[in-house]
Amino acid sequence: MDEFLKQLNDKQIEAVKCTEGPLLILAGAGSGKTRVIIYRIAHLLKNGVPPWNILAMTFTNKAANQMKERITMLADKRSSQDLWISTYHSFGAKILRIEAEGAGLNRNFTIYDDSDSKKLVEACLKELNLDTEKYRPSVIANVISSAKDKLLDPESYSVHALTTSESIKRVTADVYEIYQKKLKAADAMDFGDILRYTVELFKNNPRILEKYQERFRYIMIDEYQDTNYAQYVLCKKLVGLAGGHRDVNYTPPAPSENLIGPSTNLFVVGDDDQSIYEWRGADIRNILFFEKDFPNCKTVKLVKNYRSTANIITAANEVFKGIKEKHLIKQIEAVKRKKDGSLEFGDAITVYMASDETDEINFIVFEMNEIRKKNPAVRWNDFAVLYRVHEQSKIAKRVFENQGIPYIVYNPRFWQLREVQDICSYLKVLAFYLKARAGVLTDAALSKEGEAINDDIKRMYYLPPLNFSPIETEIMSHTFKPYELFTNEEMRRKMLARLPEETSREKFLKLVEIFSHLADDFKMSSLENTVSGIIESCDYLSVYKKNVVETEQSRESVRYVMAVREEAVDFDRSYGANIPVSDRLSMFLENIAIRSNPTEQSELKTKSEYVNLMSLHAAKGLEFNTVFFIGLEENIIPIRHYSAEKLKKKDKERRVDEERRLFYVGITRAKERLYLTYADSRLWYSKKQRFAPSRFLACLPKRLLDRGSFNVGFFSKMKYGLKRIFS
Ligand SMILES: Nc1ncnc2c1ncn2[C@@H]1O[C@H](COP(=O)(O)OP(=O)(O)O)[C@@H](O)[C@H]1O
Ligand SMILES: [Mg+2]
Repeated sequence: MDEFLKQLNDKQIEAVKCTEGPLLILAGAGSGKTRVIIYRIAHLLKNGVPPWNILAMTFTNKAANQMKERITMLADKRSSQDLWISTYHSFGAKILRIEAEGAGLNRNFTIYDDSDSKKLVEACLKELNLDTEKYRPSVIANVISSAKDKLLDPESYSVHALTTSESIKRVTADVYEIYQKKLKAADAMDFGDILRYTVELFKNNPRILEKYQERFRYIMIDEYQDTNYAQYVLCKKLVGLAGGHRDVNYTPPAPSENLIGPSTNLFVVGDDDQSIYEWRGADIRNILFFEKDFPNCKTVKLVKNYRSTANIITAANEVFKGIKEKHLIKQIEAVKRKKDGSLEFGDAITVYMASDETDEINFIVFEMNEIRKKNPAVRWNDFAVLYRVHEQSKIAKRVFENQGIPYIVYNPRFWQLREVQDICSYLKVLAFYLKARAGVLTDAALSKEGEAINDDIKRMYYLPPLNFSPIETEIMSHTFKPYELFTNEEMRRKMLARLPEETSREKFLKLVEIFSHLADDFKMSSLENTVSGIIESCDYLSVYKKNVVETEQSRESVRYVMAVREEAVDFDRSYGANIPVSDRLSMFLENIAIRSNPTEQSELKTKSEYVNLMSLHAAKGLEFNTVFFIGLEENIIPIRHYSAEKLKKKDKERRVDEERRLFYVGITRAKERLYLTYADSRLWYSKKQRFAPSRFLACLPKRLLDRGSFNVGFFSKMKYGLKRIFS
């Protein structure tokens, strides 16, 4: 046996070695599911499978990168570079670019992020003379997006909408039709389209599909419990399986016909108890019915948990008991041992009641410092603060900032922040300018691409160093289309003649000059230099430094801007040597577009070592030495959806179940120490509130807990130190 396989248990080895035919691992948290995927890839490579035959899909870019890194440690670097390890969206985008012709797309299609989609929906609503207050663009954009997750095109959606009395659905049907036309006209697609078009491509072009089926002989999917319908169909296409449990007339194939696709080496791993994306169209049936889709599949159960101490695992198993809609009974078993070979029970789980939201974070800071004092080997990275709602990160950030604790926030909206979008606009315009200058596009292509960046140019009018006044902007928009600034010499001259003030003319020329400089420097540059160039030439940081006396907000803005630069640095590091910088720029922009997907969470780093602040959704698949799970209160977890009041009892229960699974995901992230905190009262969306402790706390056995509370001790300094006496 290969030496490296000895780092697995028998069940895991069995799964790794089963390289042919469909295989399902349905197992609990921390049981080594992801590890099996990684070792299986390494095992395949070692046995001579060419890397391009392997495809691994996972949920976020972060997870994909982590997988790549871990494989590099086991396999040689060269072959790991040729592996396809990606998210569904990156996978789809890559295929669609390669196969643009077959898909009937322009190879240079743009990907719209959520905010672009919302704007487009708004435009459609206006065109239909509909009230955007009554029909909120963001709501309609969501409905369209979930229709796309179910692979419904405008036509089939409108048939579906006819059967309902909900006006929102009927309106959406109308909007969807125009929306799709507008996207097409702009050679653009949104996230939902990426998957939908990929499925369409495969459906309509059997030859193309065959090519990829031949190519991807080994397909591995992590977190399969959170796949939606479109992703499910995509996987099935790739393995050449027609039909499936979701088709109305489906009857399972006889075992002999089952291996119909050339590559039914589909290997999926997941945990139904960690399915937390139902609200985004994830369909648990995909994993539960895997055995029906592939009657000849092998199923491996992993029950040993290598991640957490026995106390944490006992708690997790108790939480599991509370999940109402259970599909399988699967307890996890602790195996972590101490040096003397006895089971590692670990510390008790600390439950702390804070006086308010600040006290809650102060307590965490106190504990982190205590842990580090006792054990200098513990690093900031070993800590994670997990919360249900991103809003909760704000207070933690403020306290950490004041106390000089380095942190990183995973922000689901990072790529949509104003500051970040400003820089992205510059990058998009630069990409266009480079093409225009090189003269590589036809006039028609140029104007089409130009139209797509008009809004980005307009955005610059209001940014420094230009700061055009509304009057200037008005004159400019009447004279020409923004992109013509870079393509039409005559327009430019006309424009100059029209601008009455000398200062306006200067500003106008400056805009052209900025891009000409950026483009001059571009060739020899790295992405990092380009982003720095943008920040400098636009004197971007001065906006935040000048007009505000360093406020929290301005510091934040500067940090966001710098975080984009960090992203560019990372990108150069990953792709630098192999890919010319111009291609890198378009890849970077594409990567950004894909990462604006709401399931993606980008990070904002303050130092190289930091405490991790993230939502429970972002924490899926990760592990940390010490976890502080904050805000364990009713209305926070389980979260209170005001719209849920009207739901039927059964649906309400389903929601609570999903929250309970989130709770389960949260506590099973911890390797050694787990803290659960709640506050007696807290500021919640600007209002002082008193919420009862979360019902989930009650299901934890008392013997595992070490309870403390803010009202212990009279001296604030001793407050936290004394907490353990209290119970
Ligand atoms: N056989 C094993 N021996 C030692 N450590 C293991 C083994 N299997 C898994 N682990 C460790 O347990 C932790 C959880 O594994 P992971 O693959 O992330 O689990 P899952 O994906 O099921 O949540 C990781 O730190 C992993 O390295
Ligand atoms: Mg995992």
